[in-house]
Amino acid sequence: MTVPPLIVAPSILAADFARLADEVRAIEHAADWLHVDVMDNHFVPNLTIGLPVVQSLRAATQLPFDVHLMIEDPRRWAPGYADAGAYNVTFHAEACDDPVALAKDLRSAGAKAGLAIDRDTPIEPYLDLLPSFDTLLIMTIKAGFGGQRFIPQLLDKVHAARRHVASGHLELRIEVDGGIAADTIEQAAAAGADAFVAGTAVYGADDPAEAVRRLRGLAERATTGA
Ligand code: DX5
Ligand code: ZN
Repeated sequence: MTVPPLIVAPSILAADFARLADEVRAIEHAADWLHVDVMDNHFVPNLTIGLPVVQSLRAATQLPFDVHLMIEDPRRWAPGYADAGAYNVTFHAEACDDPVALAKDLRSAGAKAGLAIDRDTPIEPYLDLLPSFDTLLIMTIKAGFGGQRFIPQLLDKVHAARRHVASGHLELRIEVDGGIAADTIEQAAAAGADAFVAGTAVYGADDPAEAVRRLRGLAERATTGA
């Protein structure tokens, strides 16, 4: 399997929850991953969907699932998403006292392991853990709600992570999440991100698949300078 240089992952948080399967199919041939935001009303104030919805949706599409757990006690819940067939399971550094142990559990359950860093969390304490992970998700907003304004200062963390990945020759996706749209994706790509979550910018568009393609084109241009 060839690895795509850039990943665009539409977030179903911005989709119509009454028509989830149709909404996923609308972007199925344009997107690389489907980003699934799980919120528990404890780690973040919002409440979204959980395992039963992910299990049902898994049967409705071929797209790899990029599950973003904004929940407390991820050691208890995260492996269930790997068992449900998620391609990548990301949990928050702020919610876990032993991220490396959970990353191992996720990999043994057959998933990629992702570490998420929220708006107010510095990245430096986590850089040495990155060899245990496949994905580093750097929030470009405060986790909890879609439709927020992108915070450009948070790209400093993307720069730092990219430098660390390059110097350590790590195999790690650097994913950005929050406010990614046509007017922000180029900065994120230039800072070193290679996976892009977009909710509102995809599902708020008249043609969600076309919006995905446009975002990818912008990110590619910003990366290659073409
Ligand atoms: C928010 C979620 C995001 C959200 C992004 O906490 O993690 O994935 O869906 O939505 P937009 O793209 O609208 O900022
Ligand atoms: Zn997310």
